Amino acid sequence: MKTDVLVVGSGIAGCAAALAAAREGARVTLATKATEPEHASSWWAQGGIAVTRDDPDSFKQDILSASDDTADPDAVDVLVENARTAVESVLFETLDVSFDADDAGYDYGREAAHSTRRILHVDASTGRHILGPFLSHLAELPSVEIRQDTAALELITHEGRVHGAYLESDGEIEPTFAGSTVLATGGVGALYPQSTNPDGSTGDGIAMAALAGAELQDMEYVQFHPTVCVGEDPFLVSEAVRGDGAVLRNNDGERFMPDCHPDAELAPRDVVARAVARERDRTGKVTLDVSPFDFATVFPDLAQMCESRGVDWDAGIPVAPAEHFLCGGIAVDSEGRASLDRLFAVGECSHTGVHGANRLASTSLLEGLVWGLRAGGAAAGFDPQPIEAPELLDRDPALPARFAEEKSVRLRRVMDEHVGLERTPEELKRATGVLRRLKGEVDAYIRTRTSRELYELRGQSVTALLIARAAAENPTSSGCHYLSEEQTPHAD
Ligand code: SIN
Repeated sequence: MKTDVLVVGSGIAGCAAALAAAREGARVTLATKATEPEHASSWWAQGGIAVTRDDPDSFKQDILSASDDTADPDAVDVLVENARTAVESVLFETLDVSFDADDAGYDYGREAAHSTRRILHVDASTGRHILGPFLSHLAELPSVEIRQDTAALELITHEGRVHGAYLESDGEIEPTFAGSTVLATGGVGALYPQSTNPDGSTGDGIAMAALAGAELQDMEYVQFHPTVCVGEDPFLVSEAVRGDGAVLRNNDGERFMPDCHPDAELAPRDVVARAVARERDRTGKVTLDVSPFDFATVFPDLAQMCESRGVDWDAGIPVAPAEHFLCGGIAVDSEGRASLDRLFAVGECSHTGVHGANRLASTSLLEGLVWGLRAGGAAAGFDPQPIEAPELLDRDPALPARFAEEKSVRLRRVMDEHVGLERTPEELKRATGVLRRLKGEVDAYIRTRTSRELYELRGQSVTALLIARAAAENPTSSGCHYLSEEQTPHAD
């Protein structure tokens, strides 16, 4: 099969890339493992999408400060200066998203580490109100073919150029040749026992790119969200709730954030997440006190989620941190170009430099949209060049019973215990060794089998090792890479 632009992944970044490439006249194939829109992380985005109002300088400054001054100022300029146009042209004009508004205009929300209200939202379920219309719009474009339930297993490369990918659908594997390939495969939630990501977040794109020789950056910066409602069916409680005045209390009913940071509950996300974890360990429980405002009126979607799980918000919502977002990824330039010819990466699997060591709230949808549009435009205009692609071995697609499950459980335990919110150099070294051996065990099967399950496990094992190794090699505690035994004093 041949296509001009192969996009892998169906979150906002992949959709934006497909749209931009189609607008440039390219034939686009959008391949996604998803069978439903909610299998993409973008669907679950709550707080919203931050956008420049008349405050580009303070927006840039907020991004830089939240990142512990490690974000790339040039990338931040690209994000902030293109934010308004991207949002207006796609979300307002093309998709007609009904962001919350009243007679006075949009109801801009506020979240942690933002110095002002600049977040467009639809209640606290913004992602689905963007992604649903986006996928429907693409489905109507004659030059875009959406292939659901289709996984990319490996990139097809020849002499430093990427020529597409091997796609698997219904057990059949087919090389798909593309003029250019855009990876938009999302994050790595499946590497941790608790994550806000949907299940398929196995790091596939990052692993494929790394194995093909693409450069990666900042893999050690794994962001944890501070407030996930704990229980049998955990769910994210948006930072917008703290933005509107909710406060965190320990099991003794005391607020603890004012002692941790001058911005208290609105401190950068990494600071709040660590404080919540420590206070849970110390006192047994942390709750989000939503009594400062009428929770059910201001956040009806979240109130409904609490109700459906029997959570009494008047007693405080019990919360804990959970893995949320990978700030690093496949290194790309300002148009999403990776270090391999004709390879692009957008969204969470990419590293644009915008987030540095810690991402500012509600910038992920924006980054996906801005870079998706830029990369999609740049990816158009190349003809596919079918090459003699070696066949993937497929001698015995079956894996030993429980192989994948057992390896995943072990991997998640190592990541949770040693490559989580707080790390030590010794633990990271140990984790790297264990993960290297685990990857070796998975690789032994990859030589003879090609099931999607095995490739997802490979995605996990490769990405986990990359994260642990990057963390072990970085002696500087910053943002989400917090070394608890470091000798030098740290901000919090
Ligand atoms: C949230 O609503 O708290 C999540 C927003 C984000 O991750 O940017």
